[in-house]
Amino acid sequence: MSEKIWYTYDEIHQAIRQLAQKIQASGTRYDAMIAIGGGGFIPARILRSFLNIPIYAITTAYYCNDQGHTTRDSVQKVQWLDPMPESLKGKHVLVVDEVDDSRVTLQFCLEQLQQEDFASMGVAVLHEKIKAKKGILPPDIAYFSGLVTPDWWINYPWDADDITEHNALAAQKPQLP
Ligand code: G4P
Ligand code: MG
Repeated sequence: MSEKIWYTYDEIHQAIRQLAQKIQASGTRYDAMIAIGGGGFIPARILRSFLNIPIYAITTAYYCNDQGHTTRDSVQKVQWLDPMPESLKGKHVLVVDEVDDSRVTLQFCLEQLQQEDFASMGVAVLHEKIKAKKGILPPDIAYFSGLVTPDWWINYPWDADDITEHNALAAQKPQLP
């Protein structure tokens, strides 16, 4: 991954508005979101402005362990919906995260959540990176993405130390291939 790309809050808001339109056009009326934190929290909150459905939350942490010749990726639960609230039983649930990267975190979360008694599950991501994926999306899950990007490192405004500098870098966006 050689290139980096910066996005402003405004660009993200616009992308999520379009993402919401795709979700609404799918015909499935989602009852609630489950945001995967931390990256999925702000996208889920913006999405709520368009979908008007409640946000539930889980948080995971991703570890990439390089041990000699082997790389082991592991995802751990920081916080989970355990037990799953009764209010989600039999409902159409939309899982929200900021980026579809390796899919390791997404696979972990979706497989865990598939064991619950939902009517259906969808997944919505702000950014979909075009790359070889290590994880797989379980079948029968609707997939929605806001923006498609190459395999570049995405700098999000919520990670910025200096938001003014961040926005200046976002203004010099390269042409996407
Ligand atoms: P995926 O299943 O959604 O594809 O995610 P993956 O496990 O590949 O991602 C591992 C971690 O790396 C995640 O953070 C993800 O948000 C982060 N990540 C992947 N690509 C990018 C990128 O281009 N930019 C940024 N800023 N982060 C990226 P996490 O462990 O969930 O932490 P958090 O930051 O969401 O709390
Ligand atoms: Mg994340």
